Amino acid sequence: AGCANDDRPGLIPVPPATTGPTANPSPTGIGLLQPGNAAGTLAASPIEIDLAGTVVTTWGYNGSVPGPEVRLKRGETVRARLTNALSDETTIHWHGINLVNAMDGVPGVTQDAVRPGELFEYEFRVPDAGSFMYHAHVGHQLDLGLYGPLIVTSDVEEPLPYDREYVVMIDDWRDGLGVTEPGVHSGHATAPPRGPAGGFDFLGGFGGNKGSSASSSPSPSPTADDAAGEPEEDAPPPPGANPGERLGGKVYPMYLINGRPAADPQTFEVRSGERVRLRLMNIGADTGFVVAIAGHRMTITHTDGMPIEPVEVEAVRLGMGERYDVVVTADNPGVWQLAALPEAKKGFARAVLRYTDAAASDPPSVDERPAELSGRQAPYDELHYAGERTRPNTGPDRTFDLTLTSNSRINGQRYPDADPLEVAAGELVRFRLTNTADLAHPMHLHGHPFWVATPSGRGPVKDTVLVPPRGGVVEFDFVADNAGAWLFHCHNHYHMENGMNREVRYL
Ligand code: C2O
Ligand code: CU
Repeated sequence: AGCANDDRPGLIPVPPATTGPTANPSPTGIGLLQPGNAAGTLAASPIEIDLAGTVVTTWGYNGSVPGPEVRLKRGETVRARLTNALSDETTIHWHGINLVNAMDGVPGVTQDAVRPGELFEYEFRVPDAGSFMYHAHVGHQLDLGLYGPLIVTSDVEEPLPYDREYVVMIDDWRDGLGVTEPGVHSGHATAPPRGPAGGFDFLGGFGGNKGSSASSSPSPSPTADDAAGEPEEDAPPPPGANPGERLGGKVYPMYLINGRPAADPQTFEVRSGERVRLRLMNIGADTGFVVAIAGHRMTITHTDGMPIEPVEVEAVRLGMGERYDVVVTADNPGVWQLAALPEAKKGFARAVLRYTDAAASDPPSVDERPAELSGRQAPYDELHYAGERTRPNTGPDRTFDLTLTSNSRINGQRYPDADPLEVAAGELVRFRLTNTADLAHPMHLHGHPFWVATPSGRGPVKDTVLVPPRGGVVEFDFVADNAGAWLFHCHNHYHMENGMNREVRYL
């Protein structure tokens, strides 16, 4: 449990509560988890943010969505004090980090949830460089904005050199706590987050997409039962959707990149000739995205933080929880749309790529779709791991056959009434995942990067893998080298909340 020793070196005081609307994004000066000072506070609290003129009340870290960027060097130690000013329990999970079990942030599995008014101090070493994320691991809190990027740098040579970099954190943002008119306080700052709230439609509500959060009710429905509103995954798809491709069914009022809606996009500045590394991350709870940049190709260099042999593509598809790092060569001066298209949903997320050495020109219009969005992607089979890890040159010591069914079951069981997956230390463990549902499931394993099995035998190392629908099969292997109790679950947070989890336990 967290200790309240305020004299601990390196930690800074808990910041005052946010009092008014803040422009977004602007983490309030306490993103001190930086190289040389990898310690700081992540203050979870109700906040108000201005999304292109619509002031909304939501939950976030340190006054913004996303929370502050946590950036440190490989081998360094994160010391993060989580303070809870929410009206609900919370924890932080460090998504993709191969860390010590007690710091993994899963309530009821690795720690007690942090109650309102309490705090918890996370302290762990980061063994791998890469693009990671942190997010709340309680209920639907991630969907309200309790997330941020976690970047681990390294002196080791990268697959491709680059001159500058940007984080591109993509979210299906749920206005779960209500919307107020600009400048008006909602009065719902302490509303319970659970349950569907105004402006948030379930699958049955397709077609009723209001397209604007401004029309949604400011009153949350704290007593509504999520389970009752949970759609069957086999429900008919919305018109125009390709059910074989979709990842989720919920309609969102806004899609954000780095906390900015399409109407107020962030600008990434580049100069001709530069190589720009983009750290693409899908922190959406229920939405897959396809990302492309008009006028440019991207070269994938990392999958979930882990290096691969570079592969040039026009578009990248990201399931929830996945990250891809790409390098873009700035060789086409102008002002360009970077688009993240939510799969099978209306709406758009975008940023703008602007060459500072090009003549001024108008930015792309709000929903201009780069032709590259329908261009070439790279399936897992075409990605080859290029890092330092060596997969044991043996067959698996233990294999789990796991069938992902509709209605968020794994082998018919609904967590927590589900058998743990028991492994022994040192084993090479194989998961064989078969998805019989009509939706792709992005499956995430805590604490253990894994090798995706591909025909080449040199597949990418990842921590989250998209299992295609309707009989799709994905296999991966990991070494049981990190003792503890670890969650394996669908990173569609509504599937997860509906029981699509298992615990991996060491014998
Ligand atoms: Cu980002 Cu248990 O997940
Ligand atoms: Cu799922």
